[in-house]
Amino acid sequence: MYICSCHAVTDGAIRKAVKEGGIRRFRDLARATGVSTQCGICAKHAKEEFDKAIAALPAEEKAGQSAAVSAEFADEPKACAAGCVCTCGKKLDAE
Ligand code: FES
Repeated sequence: MYICSCHAVTDGAIRKAVKEGGIRRFRDLARATGVSTQCGICAKHAKEEFDKAIAALPAEEKAGQSAAVSAEFADEPKACAAGCVCTCGKKLDAE
């Protein structure tokens, strides 16, 4: 199923990027695939698919995410009140 129509990114492509491509941050997914980098309509759904793909990783791969990496995830873009997800790398003020 297409998640991002601007860049023809499917849910399968997101899962593959996480599982086989080693992508662990949404911003890296955006850079690699272009998802949510144009109109942004797909951002919320893309982030949900990305989160599901991360959750589906084997425990040992999740365990490979050290505390330092977890701290890095703290800088991940946050969903704003409107439900969109910023991929510019800056934290949104509204929470
Ligand atoms: S639908 Fe994904 S950027 Fe437009």
